[in-house]
Amino acid sequence: MAAKMFEFIGKFGLALAVAGGVVNSALCSVDAGHRAVVFERFHGVRDIVVGKGTHFLIPWLQKSMIFDCRSQPCNVPVITGSKDLQNVNITLRIIFRPVASQLPHIFTSIGEDHHERVPPSITNKILKSVVARFEAGDLITYLRAGQSMPLQLPR
Ligand SMILES: *[C@@H]1O[C@H](CO)[C@@H](O)[C@H](O)[C@H]1NC(C)=O
Repeated sequence: MAAKMFEFIGKFGLALAVAGGVVNSALCSVDAGHRAVVFERFHGVRDIVVGKGTHFLIPWLQKSMIFDCRSQPCNVPVITGSKDLQNVNITLRIIFRPVASQLPHIFTSIGEDHHERVPPSITNKILKSVVARFEAGDLITYLRAGQSMPLQLPR
């Protein structure tokens, strides 16, 4: 009788543990400033973005990927040529964040490490094209005076 009882409790405990695991994997909790993109086993990345809160996912079928959507800084160092062919060593600090509604697209076309790949490479390209339009002396004058440079940024 007692042995049966313990066997029952053991099975009950195992069932509870399994249920707990399933419930845990079925919940997706998204912190403030973050968004989740939902991946479905047969459809791929869904075209919806989930905001702050706890959300239910279908176990096994759905998975969530959390993205940080807060603004974050990034320093991009570049050594490139000025208009008068001087080497310019310049570092630009940018602040960026992903556009939340574009996250499914960002995730499928670039991946989870988008923040390490996209902002530095775009900044690098634009910085080079900007530096190439000025003579080294003018760059120094503008930077010293803390003035903004008279130019139209490429889009
Ligand atoms: C560019 O400038 C940075 C900061 O002053 C310096 O650490 C780095 O060595 C420089 N790079 C070159 C190639 O001179």
